[in-house]
Order: sequence, then structure tokens, then C-alpha cells
Amino acid sequence: MPAVVASGSGDTPEYEGRTTIYVLVCVTIAAFGGLMFGYDIGISGGVTSMDDFLKKFFPTVYERKQHAYENNYCKYNNQFLQLFTSSLYLAALVASFAASRVCSKAGRKPTMQIASVFFLAGVLLTAGGLNIEMIIIGRILLGCGVGFANQAVPLFLSELAPAKMRGALNISFQLFITIGIFVANMVNYFSSKIHPNGWRISLAIAGVPALMLCLGSLLICETPTSLIERYKVEKGRKVLRKIRGVENVDDEYDSIVHACEMARQVKDPFRKLMKPESRPPLVIAILLQVFQQFTGINAIMFYAPVLFQTVGFGSDAALLSSVITGVVNVFSTVVSVYLVDKAGRRILLLEACVQMFISQTIIGAVLLKDLKTTGGNLGKGEAIFVVILVCVFVMGFAWSWGPLGWLIPSETFPLETRTAGFAFAVSSNMLFTFVIAQAFLSMLCHMQAGIFFFFAVWIIIMGMFTFFLLPETKGVPVDSMVDKVWKQHWFWSSFMGLDDYNTEVKVV
Ligand code: BGC
Repeated sequence: MPAVVASGSGDTPEYEGRTTIYVLVCVTIAAFGGLMFGYDIGISGGVTSMDDFLKKFFPTVYERKQHAYENNYCKYNNQFLQLFTSSLYLAALVASFAASRVCSKAGRKPTMQIASVFFLAGVLLTAGGLNIEMIIIGRILLGCGVGFANQAVPLFLSELAPAKMRGALNISFQLFITIGIFVANMVNYFSSKIHPNGWRISLAIAGVPALMLCLGSLLICETPTSLIERYKVEKGRKVLRKIRGVENVDDEYDSIVHACEMARQVKDPFRKLMKPESRPPLVIAILLQVFQQFTGINAIMFYAPVLFQTVGFGSDAALLSSVITGVVNVFSTVVSVYLVDKAGRRILLLEACVQMFISQTIIGAVLLKDLKTTGGNLGKGEAIFVVILVCVFVMGFAWSWGPLGWLIPSETFPLETRTAGFAFAVSSNMLFTFVIAQAFLSMLCHMQAGIFFFFAVWIIIMGMFTFFLLPETKGVPVDSMVDKVWKQHWFWSSFMGLDDYNTEVKVV
């Protein structure tokens, strides 16, 4: 049997080996990093709508909530309350750059271990919080944990996975994010009934995935790429044999060694990132994350209970509705695991744009028509209709922009700029998550139903970008992207060195 066989698409090599149980174990453990992130996304909205929590830390918001009917769209608008949610993302933004250095100097595995320790410290401070200062410092530590985990986990997964399964295995990160959000919604639903310390239970449970990652990381290996890059060549080959389950890994090994040699010539990856030939993956990594956030997903993930209360559900029903969107989020992500390496990345992103555009626009129209600034809420039927539309929106996001916002940046940088480039993806995600978390309640208050049209316009822009400028990366080995993708693309090839430009195949 030849060591390199042609893949389904005919122009991409496929290395020998299979997806071993050991790889699946490593993938599952690493994905607990996603669970930490997701749990955090899901827990904040519920906690900030719990009366016990508001009374203790945000008494003015609590007072305003008592006069809920004064202004339907503005009852939760408070910069401090939003700071509770968003401080984490600001910390993660800064931490991701430090994490990128640790990731390339020490490896992916220690970066994940550091993430779990930061996270555990953050859990102690938030769950045990006595005053607002403790809570905010705790959120910052959680943010450092998220910054380190989100930097290392997707790279770890993409480097460990065989090319033909890379999409599916990488999406386990997003799958765990969605499970985290869902579990958090459930926990909030029950803990909101426990007075006066239910919110502490919600915040404390975040320690579970962090502990799993911390302990589980003792069992996992470092990626062969990271080992070989750091001159642990023989260990790298050994790990490659172990994860591929075959003796002959020469071709894949040679390609990693080649990528490492190229990478070593680059002394300053951040400077290299500013060069024209780094522009295609860099622009795409940043824009995918910006677009991901401007779908408006986190307006829903953070504030679903608040949003559903705004349209007229009581606080119990509102939390329950966000449990429903949580389930939809998890199951729709599984669709992506199944389709991403078959249908490819582009088709998922484009289809979802249509679906998300339609749902956002109708939600906006319903609220514009029937939810006035003051006075009554939507009728029951209409409120349920809004929940269904939110589910349709979440479904589209979950099989496209959610997972692919992480997958594509983790697979498209050459090794020499991979950790530095990916840090830009993580920090853009955090920056715009912060912007949405910080601004959404004020935007809802000022733009009212118009906020949904605002997101709909962004969805058109991202659809156009995907259609014209995003190449397909399905099945291409991580260390062959430059030759197989960027040098072949109708637009991005103009940024690459023209010396060995291959005119044979153009990738759309
Ligand atoms: C995004 C998060 C979002 C989540 C929803 C992730 O990919 O980065 O911001 O809340 O998906 O499932």
C-alpha cells in the first residue's frame, strides 16, 4: 500500500493511519476547554437575571427591574451589570497573546494546563464572592483561563487530527462549548429557585470542567508538530505513530519536519504576520471571528433569559426558553460534525447566512410591530413564535459560523505563524464578544427592535465575503495550506510569492 494515497478530491495527499482511540481520548479531554468557555457564556445571563444576585451586587438594577413596565427595552441596561459579563472577555483578549507565546515555547499541553489553573482560581473568587471587587477579579481570572484554553485547544485538535477527520474532531471544541452553554442554562433554571445563594451554585459548577481538563491533561500527549518544532524529534515521531496507529508515518513526519524547518527560519512570528504573504489567513481569521460575533449570537446566548423576559415571559419561562435554545444549539452542532468534512466549510457558512438573515429579520419585524417601548408585552402566541425563530437562528449558527469560526483559523496558518496568527483570531473573538456583551443591553434599550435589523445587515456582508473570498479547506492537510489553498486562490494568490505559483487548479 502506498504511503501517500489520493484523497477523494483527487488533488490532496492523504497520509497513512487511522483515527485511533487514543486520539479520541485526547480530543475529548482537550475539548473540556470548550466546556469551560461555554459554561461561562451560558451562566452569566441567568445569574445576572437572578434577584438574589442583583440585590447583593447591583441594587439599582434590582430596583429598576421592579418597575419593569416602565420601558420594555431598557429594564436591564446598566454598564456595571454588563461589566460583570464582559470583563472576562477583555481579560481573555490580553491573555491570548501571552498564551500564544507559551503555546509555541512550551507546547499546547502546558498551555491547556495553565488555562485550567487560572479558571479554577476564578471559580473560587466568583462563587465565593463577597463584594463586587472579588467578583470582577474572579471574572478576570476566568478570562485568563478562557484566553489560554481557546488559544491552545483548537490548535491542539487540528494538529492531532488526521486531515480527513480534522473538521469533525476540531468541532468537538464547539460541541463542548454548546454543551457548556446548555448545562449552564439548566443549572441556572434550578439554582434560581434556591435562595439566597443559588447564584453561588451556578458559578461554582464552572469548576467541574476546569478540574476535568486539569486532571485529564495528565493523560494526553503533546502534538507531534509542537514536539518536532521544539527539537524533540524522536519523541515527535513516536507520538505520531501512536496517534495514527501505524508504524509507517514517514510521509506525514517529513511534511511536519519540512514545516518546522520553514518555521525555524522565522525569528519573529508577529513580524512575519505583518508581511503580505501572511495576509490571507490573517484577514480571514480575524474577519471570521468578527463576523461570528456580528451574527448576534451572543446577544442571545448571554441575554436569552433577559430577552425572553423582554418579550413577555415570566422569569421562570424565560430561563426555560433559553434551555430550549441550548438544546437546539447542541444538536445542530452535531450536524456540523457530520457534514463539515463531507459538504465542506463554504456551503455550511453560506446556507446559514440565508437562514440567520431570515430569522433575524422576522424577529425584528414582530418586535417592531407589537412590542412597544411601554405598556404590555407580546401576546403568548407571538412570544412563542419569537422563541421558535430564535431556535431557527441558533440552528443555522450552530452548524456553521460557531464551529467554523474556530476551525478555519486553526487550520489555515502555516506553522511559522500558526500560534501568533491564531492569537489574533482568539483576541478578535474576545474583543467582539466583549463589545456585544457590553453594548447589547444598551443597544436593545436605544435601537429597540432595530437591533435585529442591524445584525441582519451584517449577515449579508459576511455572506458576500464567504462567497467571494473564503477558499474551501476541506481535506487539505494543515501543513499544505500554502501550496494547496492560498497559492491557488483567484484573489489571495496575489499576496503569495509568485515564483512557484501553480496555475493548474483554481480553488474557489
Ligand atoms: C462563539 C461564542 C458563542 C458560542 C455559541 C462560539 O463559537 O465563539 O461566542 O457564544 O459559539 O454556541
